Amino acid sequence: MLPDADAVSRAAADLIGSAVRAGATTLGVATGSSPLGTYAELGRRVAAGGLSLAGCDAYLLDEYVGLGADHPQAYRCVIRRELVRRTDLGDGHVHGPHGDADDLDAEARRFEEEVRRARIGVQVLGIGSNGHLGFNEPGSPLDSLTRVVELTERTRADNARFFDRPEDVPRRVLTQGLGTILRAERLVLLALGERKADALAAALTGPVNPDCPASVLQCHPDVHVLADPGAARGL
Ligand code: GLP
Repeated sequence: MLPDADAVSRAAADLIGSAVRAGATTLGVATGSSPLGTYAELGRRVAAGGLSLAGCDAYLLDEYVGLGADHPQAYRCVIRRELVRRTDLGDGHVHGPHGDADDLDAEARRFEEEVRRARIGVQVLGIGSNGHLGFNEPGSPLDSLTRVVELTERTRADNARFFDRPEDVPRRVLTQGLGTILRAERLVLLALGERKADALAAALTGPVNPDCPASVLQCHPDVHVLADPGAARGL
């Protein structure tokens, strides 16, 4: 547990920076609000000359279906805005599933193969208030691969704050599967605020079970969980 959100962001940037300095060139990037401080901290470190992401590629965890690539809430745009613009990671080095593809199942298979070939060195993760990882909602098989998922109403409500109207939140997404995520060499989970306390406790201290998708983290050999006091309340 760390004292506050800033300390979580600094610790995450330390873990990412050490992986990059050790030779990792493939970063798995999450969206949502939890990693924003980490991306800002990486930006400060790059600006100060202590870190370079110039040789790296970033791979999205998930993407909304139906939003054009230029929609401000499309995760590809979010990562361009929050990470690429702040660092020296090249704009052409962001990879993700295309949520506007005509054949979504084929697109899921294409991205699964791209991530498999990339071999993610360090994967940043947040956790949903219902225990989801990426957009793997409760019930997701622990060995699932990249696929189309229907969002729960709880997740749509949680994410409504990013959209003008609640009904604008897409109903479907493409997401890396739990099995896909587990293949990354290092996982860094960020959890901020009391809203995450129940999900984090279930993930770390409950049974490994699709009811809490993030419980799959217990199966990975190099997981770093960075939580503030609110999120760590149930541990
Ligand atoms: C979204 C993303 C997840 C993220 C989660 C938590 O649903 N698909 O990758 O971890 O929300 O978001 P936040 O950090 O805003 O609470």
